[in-house]
Amino acid sequence: KTYEFVKVEQRGRVGIVTLYRPKALNALCSPLMKDLNEALQAFDKDEGIGAMIVTGSEKAFAAGADIKEMKDLEFVSNYKNNFLGDWTGINSIRKPIIAAVNGFALGGGCEVAMMCDTIYAGDTARFGQPEIKLGTIPGAGGSQRLTSLVGKAKAMDLILTGDMITAQEALASGLVARVFPAKDLLEESVKRATIIANMSLPSVLMAKEAINKSLELGLTEGLHLERRLFQATFGTKDQKEGMAAFTEKRAPNFKHE
Ligand code: HXC
Repeated sequence: KTYEFVKVEQRGRVGIVTLYRPKALNALCSPLMKDLNEALQAFDKDEGIGAMIVTGSEKAFAAGADIKEMKDLEFVSNYKNNFLGDWTGINSIRKPIIAAVNGFALGGGCEVAMMCDTIYAGDTARFGQPEIKLGTIPGAGGSQRLTSLVGKAKAMDLILTGDMITAQEALASGLVARVFPAKDLLEESVKRATIIANMSLPSVLMAKEAINKSLELGLTEGLHLERRLFQATFGTKDQKEGMAAFTEKRAPNFKHE
């Protein structure tokens, strides 16, 4: 399927979704978010895909929600239509998603990157939550996810001033996992996504689920869930293959079952 505002591409077991609205720095209008969610859901269902990448252009991952689209909205209609309620689609994707960020990731753009499972940045990337400068606040998870990633002091500093930070600052504060030269970002991201996609898919899904639950559950429940999922991996053929391969001093050949 082809979309108006995203481009999709498959490289081996990796699905790549590229945000594509060049004339507005990938500002996240509703049709773009709809295309993004549909493209990710299609890869999530596809047996041939083990991991995904969401990326943008060299100049912008995404410069935020579409300011022109939302500037005249009113509270009552926002509330009745649950404005931004449909932005949560990414959260129900079960396979891992890497956000590969070059250029601006601002406002809703930074929030979409944080909805992904990890962020890799090009060395010229800029992150920020500038909503405060527009007389509003983050509305798609910024106050919650940024705080859990970088801590309260840095989250307050960024969200209350609207300042941008560099890729290096984002790396130092834990917002991004890795920084690559901007021109190599996609290739390096595909390499790491391929490593993940070649692991046993059931184990990958369980690891992602366990990590995400750690943010919601207390330690006792979190450890309980982890142990049950760990025990469950012994019901997969891939666990037998992985441990046999180790003892036989060879590479495992996972079948994702
Ligand atoms: C609509 C946008 C846009 C946005 C850029 N454009 N960001 N349109 N919504 N968020 C459009 C510009 O209007 C312009 O269109 C074109 O993209 C190029 O942008 P320029 O500003 O000319 O580029 P540049 O001078 O390089 O500056 C880049 C920039 C700046 C620093 C990123 O565009 C900017 O500050 N953008 C807004 C960033 C922001 O405030 N984001 C938060 C949005 S609020 P024309 O037609 O003039 O060429 C938000 C709320 C989240 O995200 C709440 C929950 C989702």
